[in-house]
Amino acid sequence: MPVITNINDLKRIYERRVPRMFFDYAESGSWTEQTFRENSSDFEQIRLRQRVAVDMTGRTTASQMIGQDVAMPVALAPVGLTGMQHADGEIKAARAAEEFGVPFTLSTMSINSIEEVAEAASKPFWFQLYTMKDEDYIRRLIQRAKDAKCSALVITLDLQILGQRHKDLKNGLSAPPKLTPATIANLMTKWTWGLQMLGAKRRNFGNIVGHVHGVSDTSQLGAWTAEQFDPALDWGKVEKLIEMWGGKVILKGILDAEDARMAAKLGADAIVVSNHGGRQLDGALSSIRMLPEIMDAVGNDVEVHLDSGIRSGQDVLKALALGAKGTMIGRAFVYGLGAMGQKGVTAALEVIQKELDTTMALCGERSVEALGRHNLLIPEDFGGRWQA
Ligand SMILES: Cc1cc2nc3c(=O)[nH]c(=O)nc-3n(C[C@H](O)[C@H](O)[C@H](O)COP(=O)(O)O)c2cc1C
Repeated sequence: MPVITNINDLKRIYERRVPRMFFDYAESGSWTEQTFRENSSDFEQIRLRQRVAVDMTGRTTASQMIGQDVAMPVALAPVGLTGMQHADGEIKAARAAEEFGVPFTLSTMSINSIEEVAEAASKPFWFQLYTMKDEDYIRRLIQRAKDAKCSALVITLDLQILGQRHKDLKNGLSAPPKLTPATIANLMTKWTWGLQMLGAKRRNFGNIVGHVHGVSDTSQLGAWTAEQFDPALDWGKVEKLIEMWGGKVILKGILDAEDARMAAKLGADAIVVSNHGGRQLDGALSSIRMLPEIMDAVGNDVEVHLDSGIRSGQDVLKALALGAKGTMIGRAFVYGLGAMGQKGVTAALEVIQKELDTTMALCGERSVEALGRHNLLIPEDFGGRWQA
């Protein structure tokens, strides 16, 4: 096993091992990728206050997210096609998460189905819902998540239509990959991935194929997905989904204080301040830059989580110190998964926890609950002077 000291080490191995089409799928933002880039670079603008001569024994990163105990407040975000980054990727990631003690979120657009993950996992996981026009399918999907004992429904609100990522169009992204001269040439250099994939439980969209009338293969599926995401989704429909689920709900994809207030009013258990990792509205501000304004608006009314751009435990600490109660990581765990399967996801979580713990100690804190704005040095114009 190579020595992994940071998330970028995993990314380098991931890039070598996984077909270009799936690496590009994860490593893209929409259009110019400005928001994708700024999600990470904005974290760098926030600096840390070093404190000394503070007893740092008995530290812990343990905390809670929506009332559930977590080893650190970092959940695995829902990531579509995770099972194309590594054979049985969703099962591998779910197992790594439960062993580590953090939540795993299964995407609607996963390869392994809800039932396959539930069978392989021994702890409840979260299920992420994309809202589709086919209400009967959504009702059945929600019932499947209930039957699988999922402990929270994560409703994603920022993808009623798909942001354009140029590379996916140019690569002809599909699952499994279509065999063209270019993909064959690339696959020839990814033998381990291919051999493992031959033994995978599944190579198509497990929550969809066989569950939606008329969808039996992925070529129909592409067209079906484009047609099916619900452009008419509004707060009224969100309220109905919350009622239909009847359990803990997390509303994901909030980037505006007004929307955060609406989400809190509907009684969500948490919101995720997120711009979908820069994959939807290019030109939107980064999640970390929007967090203070959203905390000011709803920090006392609803639990706030943040994702988009987190690549280290230091990034996690900055989000927590700004008031978030939890965070999610997308690409950071995908790099680990693509690099080394379950072990790689564990390695990603270990790296982040170690960075979080060490940074906490050097900031003079012993628990994540104690973190606050007093740990940070924030540029005066960080919130920006934007005119609406
Ligand atoms: C390859 C990829 C696929 C994703 N698929 C989904 C999805 O199916 N559902 C969803 O709600 N979010 C999806 N997201 C967004 C993530 O849940 C999360 O918001 C984002 O990855 C956070 O940014 P980060 O990758 O910089 O950590 C996806 C992100 C990536 C990178």
